[in-house]
Amino acid sequence: MTQLLFIGDVVGQVALEYLEAELPKVITHHQPDFIIANAENLDLSGLGFGMRPPSLERLLALGVDLVTGGNHSWDGPCAEEVQLHPRVLRPLNYSPAAPGKGALVVEKNGYRLGVMNLAGKSALPWADDPVTASERQLVAWGGAVDGVLVDFHGESVFEKLGFAFLFDGRVSAVLGTHTHVPTLDARVLPGGMAYISDVGMTGPSGGMQGLEPEPLIAGMRNRLSHRAEFRLAGGGVELGAVTVELDQGKALGIKRV
Ligand SMILES: [Fe+2]
Ligand SMILES: [Fe+2]
Repeated sequence: MTQLLFIGDVVGQVALEYLEAELPKVITHHQPDFIIANAENLDLSGLGFGMRPPSLERLLALGVDLVTGGNHSWDGPCAEEVQLHPRVLRPLNYSPAAPGKGALVVEKNGYRLGVMNLAGKSALPWADDPVTASERQLVAWGGAVDGVLVDFHGESVFEKLGFAFLFDGRVSAVLGTHTHVPTLDARVLPGGMAYISDVGMTGPSGGMQGLEPEPLIAGMRNRLSHRAEFRLAGGGVELGAVTVELDQGKALGIKRV
């Protein structure tokens, strides 16, 4: 049996500090073989998010094996350096000319886990077709993986569910990210795929998706939302995470943490 722990969009330093305090307890309780975290929102940087190397290293030091991203993968002043890090993924279905990679195999405890990061067009309009990119990656891996986890970063539940049913039986888990709002639909599909539309964020609970609402609302009203400055919300930090139990390539269960 192989146990995965997946942590949804980590938002800001406050979430990193929360994980530094709480993740060791979660690890002791669940004993995961692999920990994957989406951290496209780890560092605020003026108009964008993204990650900076010191925060990334702190996250990896907690036992996180791989860090995934999304529409904010290329935000921030250190995007290129971060995307070239051997344990960072960005959406696979994006321009090969953009820095980074979208798929990796992590091997631990005799299990080879293939991880793909995908983005839906609803979250990243210039993304390529996620289905074609995934088909190609699965062919490229062939028998070189024991199971496959997909972080599907998208706004649309329809897009995520359609993808999941299409790949049920070939992919072990499709875990949604990006909306920062956890959904209640965690289940195992008939072909043995663990699925959830959105894992939810790990970040401050008091605002809009971890952010202070006021600048975002102003951006909605003046239609200059692309220029709205992001500020972290207040409120306690919520943990968006799931565990997935795998038997070879098939999921036996998925549970919210
Ligand atoms: Fe996010
Ligand atoms: Fe996102």
